Amino acid sequence: MVDVWQTAMDHAVGAARRAGQVCCSGALIRCVDQVVREALQDDRKVMTKSSSVDLVTQTDQKVEQLIIQSVKEKFPTHRFIGEESVAAGESCVLTDAPTWIIDPIDGTTNFVHAFPFVAVSIGFSVNKQVEFGVVFSCLEDKMFTARRGKGAFCDGEPLQVSDQEDIKQSIIATEFGSSRDPEAVDRIFSSLRNVLCIPVHGVRGAGTAAINMCLVASGCVEAYYEIGIHVWDIAAGSLIVSEAGGVLMDVDGKDGGPLDLMSRRIVAANSRTIAERIVREIDAFGPPRDDEP
Ligand code: IPD
Repeated sequence: MVDVWQTAMDHAVGAARRAGQVCCSGALIRCVDQVVREALQDDRKVMTKSSSVDLVTQTDQKVEQLIIQSVKEKFPTHRFIGEESVAAGESCVLTDAPTWIIDPIDGTTNFVHAFPFVAVSIGFSVNKQVEFGVVFSCLEDKMFTARRGKGAFCDGEPLQVSDQEDIKQSIIATEFGSSRDPEAVDRIFSSLRNVLCIPVHGVRGAGTAAINMCLVASGCVEAYYEIGIHVWDIAAGSLIVSEAGGVLMDVDGKDGGPLDLMSRRIVAANSRTIAERIVREIDAFGPPRDDEP
């Protein structure tokens, strides 16, 4: 059978690697050379989006344009949902058309502070279903990939989620997100308290949703949950988790329900048992959807 999307996926892998090289050279320069960093200050001017802690740099914008341009040349009819294009006013509606869902730098706050986890995340959906996902963890130089129905891989090696079914023997990943609204922060802390006090072995967060999800797929953590993420943070990672044998859920209601890419809520876990337990412990508040006008 002809694998219609393989060419697109090969293109995504090349684009993510090239984009990652742009991000990494910036991040590494910050780590190692104060003088160069100061010289580049203009180029790495930090701007803000939805709040004073929702950061964006010129590198995010440049990398997104690089990816979009290269895809447009090869696949002129395809559509895009890109984090920085949406921030600039483009619509964020997922249709049935082939759509590239791009986060040029997932972990922008890490990037700005030279905290060494940043990723380029490219998901590709058709009929609102993710067909492939590519996450390039550029400072680790790890390429995570998944094709629907064909497994998940890191640098070509198959990925498998952890087989731990006991949440009390687990590590859970989560993030605090970029809202500093005290009421939202209280709800995030109350969920975190409930999860910690199950008790679990520990809670971690890499500062990028995409890498957190690759950690679930790799079996290093049993689950990742977050409320407030966006479709570009999770499109690629969600397929990588499910193709590694994991489970995806929304956090709405008692039993979670299926993942809705636009709902800004996700639980990605190694098993249904652990996913459902997390859903029971967390406060399922609903930020405005990504596709809400
Ligand atoms: C952010 C990261 C972070 C998560 C935020 C995201 P960005 O993405 O994934 O881990 O907590 O919710 O917005 O802004 O760096 O692309």
